[in-house]
Amino acid sequence: MAKRIDGKALAAKVKEQVRTEAAELRREAGLAVILVGENPASKVYVAGKEKDCAECGIRSFSHKLPEETTQEELLALIQTLNDDPAVDGILCQLPLPKHLDEEAVINAIRPDKDVDCFHPFNVGRMVIGEPVFLPCTPAGVMEMLKEYEIPIQGKRCVVLGRSNIVGKPMSMLLTQADGTVTTCHSRTEDLAAITREADILVSAIGKTRFVTADMVKEGAVVIDVAMNRDENGKLCGDVDFAAVEPKASYITPVPGGVGPMTRAMLMRNILTAAQNHQA
Ligand code: GUN
Repeated sequence: MAKRIDGKALAAKVKEQVRTEAAELRREAGLAVILVGENPASKVYVAGKEKDCAECGIRSFSHKLPEETTQEELLALIQTLNDDPAVDGILCQLPLPKHLDEEAVINAIRPDKDVDCFHPFNVGRMVIGEPVFLPCTPAGVMEMLKEYEIPIQGKRCVVLGRSNIVGKPMSMLLTQADGTVTTCHSRTEDLAAITREADILVSAIGKTRFVTADMVKEGAVVIDVAMNRDENGKLCGDVDFAAVEPKASYITPVPGGVGPMTRAMLMRNILTAAQNHQA
């Protein structure tokens, strides 16, 4: 039976560290949060991030904009926040309404305030191993592996998903930790044969019960990044938890696994930004 990785407890520990260090800053760290439109999931995520800021002693500046906001208006706001010394980090919640250009928005955020680590400059720094910020979800997964002393060096790692936010940077961080990494996606042939080789399997594809027990090697570490809703509207991941838990050595639950860690790593990035701005 797998040991459960307690993301909630570890996130609380990380946030406590952030709170202690944030209190030592000369001025309060600040995060500007931009939410455009009415996406219900985005509203929940943003509320969670603002709550985390309050718990960590970080100021949050909330910018809730209407659905009809134009590209020019959004870019003008980002410019203002780029120039505002009270703002250490800028987070524009994705996805944006269809008429807005996400890439242009990501590129407009000053890299030293890009606490999501989405800007190409920061992505590039991560790839060459000189990171300023790490992308929150993959960084949270790495923190979990570290906390539970799960070895990565030389291990077969399989990442399901190749998004810019999770899959690609996850594969990169595992590579930098000396894992042997395969990235799989919707076009991968004979997927189960590849996942069965994994010592560490990270799933980030967003399909309920996609990862079944026959896809998992005995004793594998299974990390479930997804936040899906099952047919009853219950929050669940990609992994068929009940079937995979007996086979894995470690497993993350959903909820209470990767999700809280993503939020905690955002707090750490804001702290880093504030420390850099005050150095
Ligand atoms: N949408 C889903 N996840 C994220 C995230 O980590 N950051 C931002 N800005 N938007 C998201």
